[in-house]
Amino acid sequence: MIVLGIESSCDECSIAVVEDGKRILSNVIATQIELHKPYNGVVPEIASRLHTEWIVSVYEQAISESGIEPSQIDGIAVTNRPGLVGSLLVGLSFAKGLSMSLHKPFIGIDHIRAHLYAPHIEHEITYPYLGVLVSGGHTVIAKVNGFDDIDVMGTTIDDAIGEAFDKVSKHYGFGYPGGVIIDRMAKEGDAYAFNFPDASLHKGKHTYDVSYSGLKTAVINQLDKFWDGKSEKSPENIAASFQRAAVTLLTRRIKRALRDTGLTRIVAGGGVAANTLVRSELSQFKGVEVFYPSMELCTDNGAMIAAIGYQYLKQGITSSLNENASPRVTAFKRSYP
Ligand code: KG4
Ligand code: ZN
Repeated sequence: MIVLGIESSCDECSIAVVEDGKRILSNVIATQIELHKPYNGVVPEIASRLHTEWIVSVYEQAISESGIEPSQIDGIAVTNRPGLVGSLLVGLSFAKGLSMSLHKPFIGIDHIRAHLYAPHIEHEITYPYLGVLVSGGHTVIAKVNGFDDIDVMGTTIDDAIGEAFDKVSKHYGFGYPGGVIIDRMAKEGDAYAFNFPDASLHKGKHTYDVSYSGLKTAVINQLDKFWDGKSEKSPENIAASFQRAAVTLLTRRIKRALRDTGLTRIVAGGGVAANTLVRSELSQFKGVEVFYPSMELCTDNGAMIAAIGYQYLKQGITSSLNENASPRVTAFKRSYP
């Protein structure tokens, strides 16, 4: 079964052709990062206009690299939630048009579920496991029992972890995307130069929730207060200390979730899963196996949409032409406190 996957929820315009949910025939990712750089963040209006301009050539390249004919496509999967609505609508409308012209079914895909599914493309992973999705838009810790059976344990009650990286970086003029730059700068800095307030004191509604807004504000506005007077207030020290605080909160929650569920496998995805400190901290968990998708499948891409789309389509689950885009994630099960 050949599925075409379309991803346009944020600033990546990506289309992939994947066979049987596993074999990537093509995965074209056109990133808009350079075009949003002058604004230090994604500008929704610019993002949707660029998707409109680019999507046809991204599609043509994906088809040509895959070596298939459009008539061989068995189904189309497209991200339709959550994300920037203007951007989502470009991919969704394109998917509907293709579905009508090729007379093939399409399915609207939840971006979060797709990220959590991405590592299955390259690894054989048995359920259940602890899914950790850490990106610019989302921070989710969940017990994953199946591709569509996700029990969310914790989320962020305010900013996503990647959003905090991006906002701190924007404030100090380090550049965009903030996570990548702070990760690089942190290698040259002292992670103990500043002690930021313990973000875990900001209690969420649930035991495994995280909060990044307080930490972000402390790093942005109150750095002087936390400066011990001995450390040099260099950009590298700011980056390293902030990264330590942000990652420590996350890994503490993950540890608690592993302990309470007895799970011994972690599947991590999303842009922040590429972070050096996240990776080194998780690698030190004893008796725990950690799976990551390769870099290309860690950040936004069409292949993960096609791969999870295959799971739905194979069961005959499809969307109607009335399907809409939504900025919100589909409600998840929540059975943990
Ligand atoms: O998954 P993604 O491409 O897009 C969504 O947000 O869905 O993730 C992008 C986010 C950005 O916030 C970026 O700053 C962050 O991931 N990021 C990182 C790293 N690489 C990307 N954050 C920390 N360390 C990194 N190495
Ligand atoms: Zn994403």
